Amino acid sequence: MELNGALALITGGARRVGRAIALELGAAGADIAVHYGRSEAEATETIEDLAAHGVTAHPVQADLSDLDSAATLPDRVHKTFGRPANVLVNSASGFPTDSLAEATPEGWRAAHALTLEAPVFLTQSFARLLGEEPGAVVNITDVRTATPYRTHFSYIVAKGGLDTFTKAAAVALGPTVRVNAVALGVILPPPGEDAAFAEKLAARLPLQRVGGTDPVARAVRFLVEDDFITGEIVRIDGGGHLIPA
Ligand SMILES: NC(=O)c1ccc[n+]([C@@H]2O[C@H](COP(=O)([O-])OP(=O)(O)OC[C@H]3O[C@@H](n4cnc5c(N)ncnc54)[C@H](OP(=O)(O)O)[C@@H]3O)[C@@H](O)[C@H]2O)c1
Repeated sequence: MELNGALALITGGARRVGRAIALELGAAGADIAVHYGRSEAEATETIEDLAAHGVTAHPVQADLSDLDSAATLPDRVHKTFGRPANVLVNSASGFPTDSLAEATPEGWRAAHALTLEAPVFLTQSFARLLGEEPGAVVNITDVRTATPYRTHFSYIVAKGGLDTFTKAAAVALGPTVRVNAVALGVILPPPGEDAAFAEKLAARLPLQRVGGTDPVARAVRFLVEDDFITGEIVRIDGGGHLIPA
């Protein structure tokens, strides 16, 4: 898909990984709908930075733990820009802590609502609005679905669902809409942790460093642009999947 002139909706696009993806796709000429939940100031800053690329960018706020808000977000983007998005990046997520022993129905449902259900129903609405027009979806998942954390049980099970959803949606939405994912390893320190925390995790990786957001943004761009890839999950993890959890 040609990014120049495309319209990309990036969930969680105001800061961190989502912001880097927004700036990468904007640099390639895509107009950007910068979704945010609470980070209004950061969304404004990202939009100002996108303006430097000469593309149109607008903020769209939605609490994606609410299913209706997620499902109607593509319609709101359509109204705001006067055309439907043809690229969707599902990056928004939480990183809640629990174990199987501690998990509660409420925590489990909250993790699944944000991490799995929102991407599913965003994608459904996105594809419906596109009709027969081509589109591309990239989900942001976690390489640890293959070697699960003990301490983020509900989150990692939901991300495992996102992996399967990526493949199921690729089958369901072809040939018009392609659906791929990037599975991230140590990219940034988790929210609330410092650089030293991430560096300690990264020391065990074959590539022995923290990834940063650039490799993620470049991989997302590649998956949007390459028209013969669908149902693929690309690991961006410095080789972390090769070592025991
Ligand atoms: N960072 C890593 O090293 C790493 C590793 C593995 C996987 N990942 C995955 O990569 C993606 C991006 O990572 P990240 O570290 O940038 O994520 P993050 O900082 O944890 O969260 C990304 C965004 O999600 C949005 N969000 C959270 N709850 C929301 C809600 N209820 N409604 C709407 N938006 C909500 C937040 O938007 P607001 O701030 O606007 O509220 C936030 O900016 C996530 O899917 C994450 O699971 C990241």
